[in-house]
Amino acid sequence: MPILNGDSMASSATNSVDFSKALEVLKNEYPERDGIDIKTLLDSKNHGGLTYNDFLMLPGYIGFPAVEVSLDTPVTKRITLKTPFVSSPMDTVTEHNMAIFIALLGGLGVIHHNCSQDEQAEMVRKVKRFENGFITDPIVISPTTTVAEAKALKEKWGFGGYPVTENGTLRSKLIGIITPRDVQFHDNLDDPVTAVMSTDLITARQGIDLKEANQILTKSKKGKLPIVDENGNLISLVSRSDLMKNLHYPLASKLPHSKQLIAAAAIGTRPEDKNRLQKLVDAGLDIVVLDSSQGNSLYQIEMIKYVKEKYPGIDVIGGNVVTRDQAAALIAAGVDGLRIGMGSGSACITQEVMAVGRPQATSIFNVTSFARRFGVPCIADGGIQNVGHIVKGLALGASTVMMGGILAGTTESPGQYFIGQDGQLVKAYRGMGSIDAMEDKKAGAGSANSKASNAGTARYFSEGDRILVAQGVSGTVRDRGSITKFVPYLMAGVQHSLQDIGVKSLTELRQGVVDGSVRFELRTASAQAEGNVHGLHSFDKKLYS
Ligand code: IMP
Repeated sequence: MPILNGDSMASSATNSVDFSKALEVLKNEYPERDGIDIKTLLDSKNHGGLTYNDFLMLPGYIGFPAVEVSLDTPVTKRITLKTPFVSSPMDTVTEHNMAIFIALLGGLGVIHHNCSQDEQAEMVRKVKRFENGFITDPIVISPTTTVAEAKALKEKWGFGGYPVTENGTLRSKLIGIITPRDVQFHDNLDDPVTAVMSTDLITARQGIDLKEANQILTKSKKGKLPIVDENGNLISLVSRSDLMKNLHYPLASKLPHSKQLIAAAAIGTRPEDKNRLQKLVDAGLDIVVLDSSQGNSLYQIEMIKYVKEKYPGIDVIGGNVVTRDQAAALIAAGVDGLRIGMGSGSACITQEVMAVGRPQATSIFNVTSFARRFGVPCIADGGIQNVGHIVKGLALGASTVMMGGILAGTTESPGQYFIGQDGQLVKAYRGMGSIDAMEDKKAGAGSANSKASNAGTARYFSEGDRILVAQGVSGTVRDRGSITKFVPYLMAGVQHSLQDIGVKSLTELRQGVVDGSVRFELRTASAQAEGNVHGLHSFDKKLYS
């Protein structure tokens, strides 16, 4: 039998080597750890600014299962989340639906402000009122609604059971329920629904928990369980068709001792934003994000001081920043969190047009290493295209990552899916500094879903500007399904990555990076090519199932 070269080398080497000494030899003869520490990695004297694809982390030792990796992390000085995922305040990304579902999954959605003050406040209210499994804004009809109108509602909404209340609104006395069966064969279409509605109602009292409500619903054999207050006023509804969907969300983002989800919203720094903030606070806001592409301004510093003084219970996230100097100014003004990124967003052309900005990895490292000294958590905002980018943002010192484009294609983002030019299912995604979005601001049109007046963010343009200079583009992103599947995938991916690095939590990751035990490696262009799929004739990149 032929002896292979490698085999002969191995056998001659094994004769003289004591394997049991491998760890001892490593310790005594290789005092320098493999790879480089973060400071060496980011030292811009060695190269220019770096971004996510320019480096990798080296693997460590796996001594625990991935599911045990904790992703608990602060988003502000006072508020901790169970997952590090934050959705961008953009009108194609975060309205109440995204904010609710990402909070249920342990993250945070920042509601955009390209809409009227009242619309934004209503979205905050919906997040605060949301109780998993309870429909808190059901369609309610009045006793004068006709059978024809009830049938038309079914056509419009696709479901047919509606509570009937005295005033035709929520929080008014419940008098009956109309179901598709009640109206299906009723020929006199002009009859009021009171002629056919069911009045033998099974209801439950406000305060009941979802488990009990589901038990009553199952026993009752009815389609809907109205929840009423002590006066019989309709408060919410539990639906049989939702029974299976009423999942338990153990990671849901809530303040200690609160049953409500945490609500965050963005505002600008103009005088009228103070009115906006008051409405948001009245609606139950917990965190305000001051939305500016260059946060180190007189206006933002004054706004931070104003918010901290007038609303001590509200946490303020300032930004955006990419340098220590910018961060220091906002920290000195009193921010509870910082948002890092300028020009890294997927729909962003700031660096091209303004010639100002910074590569994202360099920005994150410089800002977080400074902010850490003051206990101010940072959000790595923009440029996240995959799980690896998330882990890198966190390893560089960010506590959370903010995502726009990667979440814009999910079911929970605003807007409808449509078929794109290549026949794929897509959704619209636009930078808030795109001409489209800025013209909506000027015209007061607000988000795709709203007819707002008094709208307008000041993130990318000032009122006096005669020419709008775009800092973003508008386009489409492909369908990513529901975030109830996508975010758990991101979470599992981050847990597996941390397991490979050999750390059991985000806290251990940050500590390991600071003390130099988590090691890095720069990636050349050819190393990057090697790290991607290559040499295949064709392939299908399915990310999770
Ligand atoms: P993405 O996750 O890479 O799509 O980046 C989202 C981030 O891009 C947002 O959170 C904002 O910080 C930033 N952004 C949003 N709109 C614009 C724009 O028009 N120009 C530049 N940056 C933008």
